[in-house]
Amino acid sequence: MKGTRAEDGMKGTRATRVVLFLLFVLLCCTKAASGFKENEFKTCAKSSFCQRLRSVPPEHKYVIESLEADDSGAVRGKVSVVDEDAEDETLHKDIDFALLAYESGVLRLKVSQPGRFEVPEVLLDDLKQVPLTSQSKASAQEIFQFQNSLVVVTLSPMKVEVYGDKSKITTPTVVFNENSLFNFERQVKPGENGSSEWAETFLSHSDTRKNGPMGLSIDVHFPGANHVFGIPERATRFSLPPTKEVHANGEKVLHEPYRLYNLDVFEYLHDHPFGLYGSIPFLTAKKVGSTTGAFWLNAAEMYVDIWKTDKGTSTQWVSESGIVDLFFFIGPEPKDVARQYSSMTGGTQMPQLFSLGYHQCRWNYKDEEDVATVDSNFDHFGIPCDVIWLDIEHTDGKRYMTWDKAHFPTPENMQNSLAEKGRKMVAIVDPHIKKDDSYHIFKEAQGKSYFVRNKDGTDFDGWCWPGSSMYLDMLNPEIRKWWATKFVPEVFKGSTESLYIWNDMNEPSVFNGPEITMHKDNLHYNDIEHRDVHNIYGYLYHMATAEGLVYRGDKSLAKPSDRAFVLSRAFFSGSQRVGPVWTGDNTADWNHLKVSIPMCLTLGVSGLTFSGADVGGFFGNPNSELLTRWYQLGIFYPFFRAHAHIDTKRREPWLFEESVMSNIRSAIQLRYNLMPYIYTLFHMAHKDGAPVMRPIWYEFPEQEDTFSSEDAFLFGPSLLVSPVLEEGAKAVNVLFPGKDLWYDLFGDKVYDAEKTPRVPMPVTMESIPVHVRGGSIIPRRMRPRRNTEAMKKDPFTIVVALDKNQEARGSFYLDDGSSFDFQQKRKFLSSTFVFKNYRLENDVYHNALYFTNEFTKVEKIIVRGLKRKVGKVDGNMTKIKDFSCTQEGGTWTLVIKKPDLSLTENWSLKL
Ligand code: NOJ
Repeated sequence: MKGTRAEDGMKGTRATRVVLFLLFVLLCCTKAASGFKENEFKTCAKSSFCQRLRSVPPEHKYVIESLEADDSGAVRGKVSVVDEDAEDETLHKDIDFALLAYESGVLRLKVSQPGRFEVPEVLLDDLKQVPLTSQSKASAQEIFQFQNSLVVVTLSPMKVEVYGDKSKITTPTVVFNENSLFNFERQVKPGENGSSEWAETFLSHSDTRKNGPMGLSIDVHFPGANHVFGIPERATRFSLPPTKEVHANGEKVLHEPYRLYNLDVFEYLHDHPFGLYGSIPFLTAKKVGSTTGAFWLNAAEMYVDIWKTDKGTSTQWVSESGIVDLFFFIGPEPKDVARQYSSMTGGTQMPQLFSLGYHQCRWNYKDEEDVATVDSNFDHFGIPCDVIWLDIEHTDGKRYMTWDKAHFPTPENMQNSLAEKGRKMVAIVDPHIKKDDSYHIFKEAQGKSYFVRNKDGTDFDGWCWPGSSMYLDMLNPEIRKWWATKFVPEVFKGSTESLYIWNDMNEPSVFNGPEITMHKDNLHYNDIEHRDVHNIYGYLYHMATAEGLVYRGDKSLAKPSDRAFVLSRAFFSGSQRVGPVWTGDNTADWNHLKVSIPMCLTLGVSGLTFSGADVGGFFGNPNSELLTRWYQLGIFYPFFRAHAHIDTKRREPWLFEESVMSNIRSAIQLRYNLMPYIYTLFHMAHKDGAPVMRPIWYEFPEQEDTFSSEDAFLFGPSLLVSPVLEEGAKAVNVLFPGKDLWYDLFGDKVYDAEKTPRVPMPVTMESIPVHVRGGSIIPRRMRPRRNTEAMKKDPFTIVVALDKNQEARGSFYLDDGSSFDFQQKRKFLSSTFVFKNYRLENDVYHNALYFTNEFTKVEKIIVRGLKRKVGKVDGNMTKIKDFSCTQEGGTWTLVIKKPDLSLTENWSLKL
C-alpha cells in the first residue's frame, strides 16, 4: 500500500513536470517557427560596459612607472592613473604592468589588479620564457630586446610597439595603444562609482554586479595590414569586414562590433557579426611581407571593433571583466603565427584515426534496429563509414549516460556489433543534469554541492532538454576529476570501449536564462562570478569529458587507455588540445553551404582546425543537388559528419536515386583514399598548429589577391579545393595561386598558374574541382574499404606531382591511430619523400620498428609531369619491372606497379 501511494505521488509530480515541459516545448516550437530572433540577444548598445568603453577615450591618463627586470627576465612595473586636469595628480597606483617574452617569438603584456580573475587551464604549463634585455632607458621611453625583436615602451601615456625584426625599425609589427583607447576600470568598493553601474537589466533578467564595473579596453594596431582574420565564432566573411570608419572629423559605425560570448543561437543567419557557440579572442593580421597575431586571454563577454585607415588596421577590444593578458605573435610567416599561438595554447590533439573518417549522425536514430539497418546499408551500398551517432533521444528521459530501455535495451550488443566491423558509436552527453533524485549523477553531485550556484548561494536551476536541470561547476578541478570518473563502464552502464562522446549545449545553453544562457551573477568555485568564466565553461566541460574517456580503462584515473574523441559545440582557446568542434545548427541552403568555408577557415587560423559543419544542413531538407555538393565539400572539412534535425526527412545517401548515391559514395571514398595524407596533416597540426583546411594565403603569403579568398581553400599544403557553391552551376572559376603547376586530381589536365591563373572549369555532378600542387608528394590508400580500421593493412600509393623544376617533396606520418604510444614510447613512423634529379627517395626520419613491412607496403607509385619519357627504373632495394610511361598533355606520367618497397625503409628509385 505504502509503495503504491508513493508511486502515485511520484506520478503526480511527474505529470505536473510533463505538463510544464510540454508547455515549454510548445514555447520553443513557437520560437522555432519564427527563426533567429535578434532581439533575444544583447548588442553593444544594450551592454553597459560596451557603452562605457566602445570608442570612448579614457577619462584619465595611464602612465607606466618604475620598470624593473625580475629574475625570470620579465619586465615589471606599476601603472598610475593620472588626472590630467588636476596638474597630473596621481589618482591611483594599484595596477600592475608586466612584459614577458617567450622562446617561440611571443611577447606577452599583462595589465592587472590583484583580486581579478585570471583564466586558468588555457596556457601550456611549460612555457619557455626568454629574458627581455634593456637596450636603452630614457625618461619617456625604454627599449628592450628579445631574440631578433625590439620592444619600445612609451611610458606616458602608455604605449608598446613591437618590431619583429630589429634591423627594420621603420614600421612596427604591432602596436599596443596606438589610438589611446586603453582603459582599465579599476575595481572599487560599492558606492564609489555611483550606483547605476552596479546592476543591469536585459529583457526580464537582471544582473547584479557584486564587483561593480570592471570593464577593460585594449587597442591593438597592425601597421600596414589590410586584412584581419579570426575571433570566431560567427557566420560571416573570412577577411573580417570593418565595423566602423574613422575619419579626422569623427567616426561612422558600420555595424555591431564582433561579439565573443558563447551562445546557443537558434537558426543563426548566414551573414551576421553575431557571436555563436564558441570564442577564441585571437586575431591574425595580414599584409604582403608579414603576418602577425594578437590573442587576449580573457573569458568574459567581449566586443571587437575593426577599422581600416591608410596606416593599417586598428582594433579595439572591450571586455566586461578579468585582466589584460595579451600575447603578440610576431610571425613573420603565417606558419610562424600558427606555431607561436600553439606554443602558448597547444597544438591539435592527435586524433583517433577513426575520427577522421565519415560520421553518420541524425537526431535521432530511433532504436537498435534502426542503427543496425543504417550500419548494414553502408556495407550493402559500399559506402565507407566509421561512426554512427546517437542524439539525445537514446537516453532515459535525457538523463545522460543512461539508455532508453524500450528502444535501446542492449546497448553493449549494439556497440559490439558495430565494433566487429571496425565501427564506433558516439553518444551525446550534455552538461545540464536532470533534477531528479533517482538519477545517480544528480543525487551524488547535489550531495557534494557540485552545482553552479545562484548569487544567493543556492543551487542554480535552469531549463534544458530534461526540464528542470542543474549545471556542474566545471571551474572546480575536483569536480572535473569527479566528472571524468563517470565514464568508466562500471558507472556509465551500457557503454563499451568503442563508445565515444558528443558534448552539446555547453555554452551553457539554459532555455529560460538571459540570452539562453546562465546568469552572469551565478557563482562558481571560490565565488567567482559566471561573467568571468562564461566563455571557458564549455571548454572546461569538454576537457573533463575527454579526460574521462582517456582514463576510462582505469577507475583511479592513473593509466591512460586510448585517445579521447569528444565533439564539442562550445569552445575557447585551448579546445584544440581536447577535440573537435562543429559549427552548430546550420540550415540546408546554399548560403549556409557557402559560409561553412569561412567559418572553418577562421577556426583553422584560430588554432582550432579540427572542425566541420553539419553536412547537408541541420535545419530543413536539402535537395539532392545541394546534398551532393555538400558531401563533395564536406570531405575536405577536417571533421566530416552528416547531421540533421529531428523534424527533417531521412537523408542517408541510399535514400536518393542511384546517381546521387554514387556521387556521394565517390566523394566519401575520396576522403578515405586520402586518409594517409589527412593523418599526416593532423600530425602537423598537432606539432605546430598548422591548419588542415587552410586559406590560400597560408601557403602563398605574398599573393594579395587571395587574402580574402573564401570560395576556395587548400587542404593541407598540396590540394586546392574549389567547391561548387551555386545551385545549377555548370562551371567554377578556379584560381591557381603561385607560379607553378596544378594537376587535376581526377583527370590528366595540368595548369600553369603563371600562364592561366584563372580558369573557368566546367563541372558535372560527379565531382568538384580539386588540384594537386606541383612540387608535392601525397601518400594515399586506394582500396575501397568499409572504414579506417579495415584500411590499416592496406598498401600505399605514392603520388608525385612535379613542379616546373622537376622536383617534389612530401611527408608521411603513421602511428597506431589510437593509443598514446606515439608519445610515451615514440612508436611512430615518419618520413620525407623527395623527388630530385630524376630520383625518388623515401627518407625515414623515425621508425620505431612498430610497423612491420607487411602493413606499410607500397603498391603503386605515380609520377606526374615528367618532361621526358622514362625507359628505366633502378631501385636500390629492389628491381623494378612493372612500369609504364605514357604521355599526358605535354608531359609524361610514370606508373610503377608493385615496386616491392615498404615505407618503413629508406629507399630510392632512379629514373
Ligand atoms: C543542438 C545541437 O546543435 C544539435 O546538433 C543537436 O541535434 C540538438 N541540440 C539535440 O541534441
